[in-house]
Amino acid sequence: FTFEKILEPIQIGPMKVRNRIVMPPMVTNYAATDGAVTERFKAYHQARAKGGVGFIIVEAAYVQPNGKGFQNQVGIYKDELISGLRNLTDAVHSYGAKIAVQLYHAGRQTTSKVTGMSIVAPSPIPCPVKQEMPKELSLEEIKELVEAFGQAARRAKEAGFDAVEIHGGHGYLVNQFLSPYSNKRTDEYGGTFENRMKFPLEVIQRIRKEVGESFPIIYRMSAEEYVAGGLTLDDTTVFARKLVEAGIDALHISGGVYETSAMIIQPAAIPQGCFVENAAAIKKAINGEVPVLVAGRIKDPVMAEQIIREGKADLVSMGRALLADPELPKKVAEGKAETIRKCIACNQGCIDRLFLD
Ligand code: FNR
Repeated sequence: FTFEKILEPIQIGPMKVRNRIVMPPMVTNYAATDGAVTERFKAYHQARAKGGVGFIIVEAAYVQPNGKGFQNQVGIYKDELISGLRNLTDAVHSYGAKIAVQLYHAGRQTTSKVTGMSIVAPSPIPCPVKQEMPKELSLEEIKELVEAFGQAARRAKEAGFDAVEIHGGHGYLVNQFLSPYSNKRTDEYGGTFENRMKFPLEVIQRIRKEVGESFPIIYRMSAEEYVAGGLTLDDTTVFARKLVEAGIDALHISGGVYETSAMIIQPAAIPQGCFVENAAAIKKAINGEVPVLVAGRIKDPVMAEQIIREGKADLVSMGRALLADPELPKKVAEGKAETIRKCIACNQGCIDRLFLD
């Protein structure tokens, strides 16, 4: 078997990536309690860059303290965090990989125990998994949040990141606004699809104003929420077109919300490549105008190669596969794919250590 496509360079906006293998964002609990980069956090990313991955998207970084979702998660909510992030981007760049950071706010999918303050959401509806009543965001707080995303993107650029990714999926705050399932607002941010799109589109606009035209903005989305009354592929294909019109540079396809978390972090029972067809549908809906990334139990480089050959996506995220073997891309490039240490999707170790609260 010859690997051609996954080793081919590609551009996301103006950013050149050396191959199509992406490390998607994965929360680690390796950062400090205030969200600062630690030596361990840096070494972990550096090892994957050294292993030959094209593009690393750093885990969900909270843009406001009340949006923190996990203990020891990385943060990007204050300027004091920039210097640590700069150490990280320098380390990754020294091995030729590109690096983005995912900008996020947990909304109702966290607890006051983790944040140390009250939690907020578009509507006062608790996440069934977290069971804590969020405070409904006021219009003033929504404005502050849009600004927080903009400031976080500015910090990312100052810290030397090559791009940012907006976490618009997995039932977190941006996703909560878009979804009729979690957004029951009666003002301009809720109700119609048009109104529910307002927050995500304002976040994009604000970030673009901060980073300029030649800095890629990637948008991650759950193509389906898999909950009754939630977003379906029919909605998200329409939304994807809006995102492209709004000037995003790539789409990153995933699925699920906390109530359907098996679709966020698929255990072994979920088929490999579970979101490939959704990615293909979205790529078609946007006429391939921007690159599409896809994740979801893609652990076999042969499958990754075929996804790109068949034109179903442009880049392939291999998350747990890169946790299991940081050298995966290098082994593929050197014709030693049979020596790759495989992820078995046991979700022991990578997942269980996140829930320390
Ligand atoms: C994740 N995932 C995830 N997604 C995201 O958008 N932001 C995040 O911070 C995290 N955090 C996270 C932590 C851990 C430990 C895992 C395993 C996963 C989802 C991740 O990006 C990816 O979509 C899934 O892991 C599926 O891809 P793989 O691992 O099957 O290649």
